[in-house]
Amino acid sequence: MEEVESREWYLAAYAAEGVPTSDHLKLRTVTLSLSPDSIPEQHVILEILFISVEPYLRGRITGREDGLYSPQFNLDEVIAGFGVGRVIRSKDSNYVEGDIVVSAFTSFAEYCVVPSQFVARRIDPNNGIPLPEYISSIAVTGLSRSSNQRVPGFAAWVGIELLADPKPGSNVFISAAAGAVGMCAGQLAKLRGCRVIGSTGSDEKVRLIKEEFGYDDAFNYHTETNFDAALSKYFPNGIDVYLDNVGGEMLEAALNHVNKHAKVPLCGMISGYNKVWTEREGVRNLLNLIGKEVNMQGFMVGSYVHRFGEFATEMESHLKQGKIGYSKLKIFHGIETFLESLGSLFTSSNVGKVVIQVK
Ligand SMILES: NC(=O)c1ccc[n+]([C@@H]2O[C@H](COP(=O)([O-])OP(=O)(O)OC[C@H]3O[C@@H](n4cnc5c(N)ncnc54)[C@H](OP(=O)(O)O)[C@@H]3O)[C@@H](O)[C@H]2O)c1
Repeated sequence: MEEVESREWYLAAYAAEGVPTSDHLKLRTVTLSLSPDSIPEQHVILEILFISVEPYLRGRITGREDGLYSPQFNLDEVIAGFGVGRVIRSKDSNYVEGDIVVSAFTSFAEYCVVPSQFVARRIDPNNGIPLPEYISSIAVTGLSRSSNQRVPGFAAWVGIELLADPKPGSNVFISAAAGAVGMCAGQLAKLRGCRVIGSTGSDEKVRLIKEEFGYDDAFNYHTETNFDAALSKYFPNGIDVYLDNVGGEMLEAALNHVNKHAKVPLCGMISGYNKVWTEREGVRNLLNLIGKEVNMQGFMVGSYVHRFGEFATEMESHLKQGKIGYSKLKIFHGIETFLESLGSLFTSSNVGKVVIQVK
């Protein structure tokens, strides 16, 4: 086999606002040469098996650098993320055909050529860990530093363990609580002995996080739409920690319930990702931060790479002892589902970490 056909997603037009459509992201078929001469040194060709679909991708196709945190894709560029693939050709002596690897740079495609510096590690497919776990929230076994920025569990760990650092008995609130970051963050806060409440977008997810991820309670923000009233009910003693994944109205409501010296790590603000900044809901009560001496802090996991080893060791130990469960996955099948799977992040339709199973 000297060449292979591959379908790949590329950026046809920037989407300044709204959920991206087929006007912005398009699928095309390309032919990839597999002949050794055509592969650069220190590169591998991957047959892509799983690829992670994450909210930050939305910020990379707005056409403007406006505070969302990753650089823009160029027009016509193939969209790339974090994935698991099988090596089918190698120009790097560290990898041989048939190796299953985690790659920090994986095209949203069926096959792609990857500089081996982005290949995080080889996986033993028989080690009992399901392959999508390597790009999900929790399983981190042996991931190298080059891939750590994409492990949502690491974001949860930085937010809860490093920035919030809650005491036993602290009242912790987590939004998007059933998502990739949220399901891990809740379990970490429970291990700290906190009382943990989540908000999420369906009754099914409310049940899931209470029954499977140990949340003490949770509410569906689509049915309990008066967030201020909901937080009064769930936090009679106020909020000591709020891990914000959604921003907007929920952040504003949470700031009405913070206790003295509360911590508010800002992980993400997905409610605003499809809007230009002037259309996003404002937070009108920042004044509360002053009198209550609240510490509200944005963070990027990429700034904590030096702590990744610590995180990996802790998480492995939690997993082995059954203190933390494997993540819940929402698997879309086939590379053609990328647009649908990306759009699903901005609804409450999926349960768990969104992954595409390409093969
Ligand atoms: N700072 C960092 O380094 C870092 C790293 C990773 C992720 N993040 C951020 O962390 C957040 C969670 O990421 P994730 O990967 O765990 O995604 P996720 O929670 O698995 O998926 C996104 C979820 O957000 C919720 N959502 C969508 N639109 C919403 C809206 N308008 N209002 C409220 N909730 C909405 C939906 O769940 P519901 O059912 O709850 O509506 C959806 O399932 C995102 O904001 C992401 O950008 C930050």
